[in-house]
Amino acid sequence: MKLKKIGIIIITMSILMAISLFFGCQNKENTQSNPELLLGFSQIGSESAWRIGNTNDIEEQAANYGISLMFENANQKQENQIAAIRRFIAYKVDVIAFSPIVEEGWDNVLLEAKNAGIPVILVDRDISSKEEGLTACLIGADFYKEGVMAGEYLIRKADALGLDDVNIVEITGTDNSTPMRQRQAGFADAIAQDERMHILESIDGDFLKSRGAECMKTLLDRYGDKIDVVYSHNDEMTLGALPEIEAAGFVPGQDMIIISIDGGQDAIDVLKSGKINCVVECTPKLGKEVMETAIRLNNGEEVEKLIHPEEQIFSDEQDLSNIAPRGY
Ligand code: AHR
Repeated sequence: MKLKKIGIIIITMSILMAISLFFGCQNKENTQSNPELLLGFSQIGSESAWRIGNTNDIEEQAANYGISLMFENANQKQENQIAAIRRFIAYKVDVIAFSPIVEEGWDNVLLEAKNAGIPVILVDRDISSKEEGLTACLIGADFYKEGVMAGEYLIRKADALGLDDVNIVEITGTDNSTPMRQRQAGFADAIAQDERMHILESIDGDFLKSRGAECMKTLLDRYGDKIDVVYSHNDEMTLGALPEIEAAGFVPGQDMIIISIDGGQDAIDVLKSGKINCVVECTPKLGKEVMETAIRLNNGEEVEKLIHPEEQIFSDEQDLSNIAPRGY
């Protein structure tokens, strides 16, 4: 009986030791954990699978790093973001992070944050300001490079198909936002020296699926079978445009070359089906960098001014059978 009791005690202790070793190892992953840190995060909205994936990642990584998160969703309105940042200041958060919906119009509120001594991290998108030192850093994709990758793909595709003239329509993201400006500029620069390329029209689709459909309908009414290429600044607008192209009697991916940006699961599935030709990746998984940077800023350390994640391109030039689940 006594021996049985001792056996049970030894087994229980072993299990407890294994559990504490397991969690000990897990904690080592986040050696910078800082449960004292309060981070205010103002998100743009929920306009796309990308944005929802980005929100989920921010929330998961805040929990992973033991950071308290004050999260505010601005529902696509700059004034809501400005109000949220003012609430963060009033609440005396340690660090503010936000994804600015557009580039201009932030000076006043960011000066208020600066005067309150609260460091600000730009996430995903940039601001445009003449003021120095309003923000500590930017963590987000290289949108210009994404546009260049899209343009370079198109040149390769036109070569492969032996096209002499290439008429492009562009459905852009939110006017005056960083991804809209940079994706447009990168693409335009990449095709500038190729005399076959003509942009028929660029039209604002606001990164929304419904607007993507409306814009495509307008473009089809205006240009019909003149359209060779649809360059869309995000997956959501692309997925809105495709049914319109089919309804007008064209086969997307064959009658028209379809180029998208983001790389969410839905667009990758359509790419595999052949209705999209190319998807340039833009990863929403910025949470880890945001949390690590917030911890450093809170400790008064220097941080990198600009962090771009690694990104890739998926297209009909490749074997698409082994793409790992995208997670957004
Ligand atoms: O700023 C990133 C862009 O915003 C993504 O491409 C788009 O899907 C999102 O809404």
